[in-house]
Amino acid sequence: MVEDRPPVPAEREALDRPWRIWASVAVVSFVLLAFLLGFLVVPERGKAGFDPFTAMCRALGIPGFGREPPESPAAERAAPASEVAWTSDTRRLLASADVKQGAQVAESICLPCHGMDGVGTTPIYPHLVRQSAAAIFKQMQDYRSGKRQGAQAAIMTAFAQMLDDRQIANVAAYYASQRPSQRVRPIATSPAIVELARIGDPARSLPPCEACHAGSGGPIEAPVLLGQSVSYLEQQLQAFASGERRNDIFARMRTIAQQLTPEEIRGLSLYYSAGSGTENTESDATAAMLR
Ligand code: HEC
Ligand code: HEC
Repeated sequence: MVEDRPPVPAEREALDRPWRIWASVAVVSFVLLAFLLGFLVVPERGKAGFDPFTAMCRALGIPGFGREPPESPAAERAAPASEVAWTSDTRRLLASADVKQGAQVAESICLPCHGMDGVGTTPIYPHLVRQSAAAIFKQMQDYRSGKRQGAQAAIMTAFAQMLDDRQIANVAAYYASQRPSQRVRPIATSPAIVELARIGDPARSLPPCEACHAGSGGPIEAPVLLGQSVSYLEQQLQAFASGERRNDIFARMRTIAQQLTPEEIRGLSLYYSAGSGTENTESDATAAMLR
């Protein structure tokens, strides 16, 4: 049964309930805080070195999206490995490269070390002869931007910085157009090395080197290893393993090289060098043995 009470005025009922008062106080404080933030803190932007959005994110424990220069080692590690992206513009630039103008660049700058035919004049200068234009272009861009470090990268950075994008595309097309004078075959130093190269090692999640380095099928920038000098291949694998060289997109090579033992690095370098750049007779002897 419903009792028939006299009606209470709405205001009086409101004041009877203390939570309503506190709710009003909370709303007023919130509006005041928003006012302070909006009109006093935001105009101070820039002075603190980051924007209020980042400041709020940080207060909540989220890094925010502030664009700060990478200065900490962690930030550097997270920085993109390369500035090269295979966009349609990059592909167009390579497709429209001028081999004749590339030859002029090669003659005036690269010749003493890489020869006109792309054959390194000493084992410390890598061969460019079997490389694709994309591979050469990618490395030149990385030397120029300073993304490729380790081993003797400093030498190349200086030369790459003398060239613009078009000249790099031209000289890459020039060397890619050179044909090797001889066919080379890998040196089967040991069955384990051949297996690493052709099958990989599933136990260590190592894909076969051939998956990417056979000249087709892998990432467009993967260099051809066959016929490169032993010392150069070994140096580069060591540089990837130590993280000194870190211009490989998605850390593809760092992840692989870190898992190889020094003996495997040596063996694989010898395997792919096909005897080029070995002053000692070690590889010749091995090659003869396995022929
Ligand atoms: C003074 C000698 C010298 C000159 C001149 C020179 N290079 Fe090099 N080049 C080197 C050395 C040394 C390396 C290996 C650097 C390293 O360890 O990263 C190299 C590496 C390269 C690579 C990387 C190859 C690879 O397989 O990753 C490319 C591409 C290249 N040079 C292209 C050129 C071009 C193009 C020119 C001319 C514009 C040129 N170089 C001029 C010495 C030279
Ligand atoms: C998933 C693909 C992939 C596999 C598998 C792979 N590589 Fe690579 N490798 C690359 C790419 C891509 C580059 C070029 C990195 C860059 O952009 O500088 C590279 C670069 C290299 C270089 C440097 C060559 C130069 O001219 O500078 C060496 C040496 C090398 N790889 C050796 C190996 C060996 C040995 C194996 C097998 C144990 C292997 N790679 C497996 C993708 C691969």
